[in-house]
Amino acid sequence: MFRYKQELRIPGPTPVPPQVLARTSAPMVNHRGSAFKELYPRVLERLKPIFGTVEQIYMVTGSGTAGMEMAVANLVSPGTPVLCLVGGFFGQRWRDMCRAFGAEVHELVYPWDKAADPARVGEYLKEHPEIEVIFATHNESSTAVINDIEALAKARGDHQALLVVDAVSSLGGVPVKMDEWGIDVVVSASQKCLMAPPGLAFVSFSRRAKEVALKARTSRYYFDLSIYDRYWERNEPPFTPNISLVFALDEALQILEAEGLENVFARHRLMRDMVREGVRALGLELLVAETYASPTVTGVKVDDADQFRQHIRLKYGVEFAGGQGPFAGKIIRIGHMGYATPLDMLTALAAIEMTLGRPGIATAAAERLWLEA
Ligand SMILES: Cc1ncc(COP(=O)(O)O)c(C=O)c1O
Repeated sequence: MFRYKQELRIPGPTPVPPQVLARTSAPMVNHRGSAFKELYPRVLERLKPIFGTVEQIYMVTGSGTAGMEMAVANLVSPGTPVLCLVGGFFGQRWRDMCRAFGAEVHELVYPWDKAADPARVGEYLKEHPEIEVIFATHNESSTAVINDIEALAKARGDHQALLVVDAVSSLGGVPVKMDEWGIDVVVSASQKCLMAPPGLAFVSFSRRAKEVALKARTSRYYFDLSIYDRYWERNEPPFTPNISLVFALDEALQILEAEGLENVFARHRLMRDMVREGVRALGLELLVAETYASPTVTGVKVDDADQFRQHIRLKYGVEFAGGQGPFAGKIIRIGHMGYATPLDMLTALAAIEMTLGRPGIATAAAERLWLEA
């Protein structure tokens, strides 16, 4: 097979538009010079509507996990009682990270193919008034489940706990309304719906979260908010950032802005619905029920899933992700976030239906849905 054109249909990193990639090859600039002092705040300012906040966005050179660590390092001191909502691999990451920082970790486990139940979270919080921070995952990329963060924030009621949300695989593809929903910290990264290469993480803190951060007793340096705040006064990052990725993000944001956020979200919902419709037409089982189906990734149960994926990758050049945890070897995950179109979903479905020897079944169903949309 022709190996030079790959369809990357995994839940991140995602394909990067050519004009975004091209910007990464722009000549380097002084990160303390006038060009970057103009670009840096301008790019971060444009992330605010995507975060749904008026608060400052902090940028860290590192992957999404660096953003998660920036949240934990600034809010969790040794012994801080925290509640981690764990329904997948990335919920486990919050739990493990909080443990590494010496928190007193309460873990509320929910099934890996379902969303966290806001009522259960509310009850748990009532029983544990001492909890200071809740860590949740908006879109569990490992299970293709999207959590209802607005409902989880409401379930908190007037409990004191801050709500920290991993929006790494949702932000820019799914609405995130940090201020309106009452989220205290949102974490995201460059390589998913934001259509840039991996390597930048973004974190926003509410005023209340910032006050807590000032009092945190954790050892930290690279992620210390107060250092970022000091440099922000002169429009500079504290440390040399990945400047090429900031160029890339500038370009990627222009694409998102030209499409308009509401259209971006509608495109992601349509891609989800097309994939689900096609999969159903083939008689395959979807991992997740309609109510919490992620608009950015879909899990499908397949016999010998890893072999199935490998066959599709080698024969058709379409790359799907495999399962994690209890779903290892049992599912494929189809990424549909960022630089992806409904037409790309037909390519993905075509590779699946041909592998199953059922040409036209999934694609026809998905096309019909698209035509009706
Ligand atoms: C939901 C979620 N959280 C966190 C991460 C971690 O991000 P990274 O691998 O960039 O550190 C990922 C990456 O796949 C993710 O999907």
